[in-house]
Amino acid sequence: MNEKFKLTRRQFNKAAALATFAVISKNMDAAETNSGTLKIGLIGCGGRGFGAVKDCMEGNDNIKIVALADVFDDRLKDCRKKLESMQGRMYKGKVDIDDGHCFAGLDAYRKILETDIDVVIHATPPFARPLHIEAAIDAGKHVFTEKPLAVDPAGIRRFIKTAQKAKEKNLCLHTGTQRRSSNAYRETVKKIQDGAIGDIIAARVYWNGELPFSHDRKPEWSDLEYRLRNWYNQIWTCGDNIVEQHIHNIDIINWIMGTHPVKVVASGGRAWKPREEKYGDLWDHFECDFEYPNGVHMFSFSRHWNNSKNDVFEQVFGTKGKSMCNDMGKDTKNPYVQEHIDLIQAIRGEAPYLNTGIECAESTMTAIMGRMAAYTGQELTWDDALNADLSIVPEDLDWNKSYPIGPIPVPGKA
Ligand SMILES: NC(=O)c1ccc[n+]([C@@H]2O[C@H](COP(=O)([O-])OP(=O)(O)OC[C@H]3O[C@@H](n4cnc5c(N)ncnc54)[C@H](O)[C@@H]3O)[C@@H](O)[C@H]2O)c1
Repeated sequence: MNEKFKLTRRQFNKAAALATFAVISKNMDAAETNSGTLKIGLIGCGGRGFGAVKDCMEGNDNIKIVALADVFDDRLKDCRKKLESMQGRMYKGKVDIDDGHCFAGLDAYRKILETDIDVVIHATPPFARPLHIEAAIDAGKHVFTEKPLAVDPAGIRRFIKTAQKAKEKNLCLHTGTQRRSSNAYRETVKKIQDGAIGDIIAARVYWNGELPFSHDRKPEWSDLEYRLRNWYNQIWTCGDNIVEQHIHNIDIINWIMGTHPVKVVASGGRAWKPREEKYGDLWDHFECDFEYPNGVHMFSFSRHWNNSKNDVFEQVFGTKGKSMCNDMGKDTKNPYVQEHIDLIQAIRGEAPYLNTGIECAESTMTAIMGRMAAYTGQELTWDDALNADLSIVPEDLDWNKSYPIGPIPVPGKA
């Protein structure tokens, strides 16, 4: 097995004692009132970045999208063009981007933070999150960030520090696990927590879907350009499918249980992907048995298999019944829009201070822990996983360097 995935379970990072995962309590102090036009900058101008900015405009008035940053100029230009051509009433007057506020390159994220934007919307691939969000909070910006928040325990520990710093600075930090912004989920979770199905005895969660994409290398691309454009296929850029997508489902059970699992046993592998570069070093299926502190088990199933039976859901079983976690309520608004309404209202002081950084870090870490247990074939505790000396993201990114990947993890060889 690749050295970098070895589980150094006994190597505790003493400094990480900070990561006790004390939940940032919901603070009823309003954020500083901010009633003027909020200026918004987007880092990561791909599919979700464009979508998140659009959702933010749909849900809020008195905001303006003024700045864009992406590692690739073509992605930035496409996004700018789409934003500037949006005609709907709900977007009118909300896009005002000039050339001086467009930044491309590896340092684009730092340059956009030097502008006078109030809010950052972050939608790069997951590997960049701990570094970029730390920089955004240091620069005094409110943040909406997509999930997952990191790809390794080192990244999670860094993100937790940032979430804590955001609170100290009264900066709102909201995260893209949007099921928590769905009224159907909110009402159902509340009913479950109030006892509607009795005591919870078990849960199961699925993300069985297809491989989102994989690209062949183009001769004109540097190695790093290839890695970043093909980001869904390297563990260091995306975290593997259990972390990248299945976090959404795991997050719901963590929410209902009010905590994260303490233990996991897992398996998985790579059933169909040929050993071709475009498929990178990811596995294509994971099965995990997570255990919560009260002994309740969550069975988790995630895979990227094409032309197969696909299913994405969360289900809990109680002593008096069962629930799909969103079946005792109704959606009143698109949750992707609602999450941006919640953030902007909190920034303006119209709603309580909002910081969902720790809860999303916990769910990201739960998925990382499942992946670590599967790659190694070892049972793993939360503390061992969180404190593991595992950092898989290269420290410096350079167009002239190469970033070889693999070998594909093999359990029992760690
Ligand atoms: N909440 C959801 O339902 C949901 C849905 C889709 C995607 N997402 C998340 O959004 C993120 C992005 O996904 P996507 O589908 O938009 O991918 P994408 O490839 O379409 O967009 C990612 C963008 O980030 C840019 N980028 C890469 N590295 C960068 C860096 N270091 N600095 C600046 N820009 C960089 C890329 O060039 C690209 O334009 C992922 O983490 C994904 O999980 C969330």
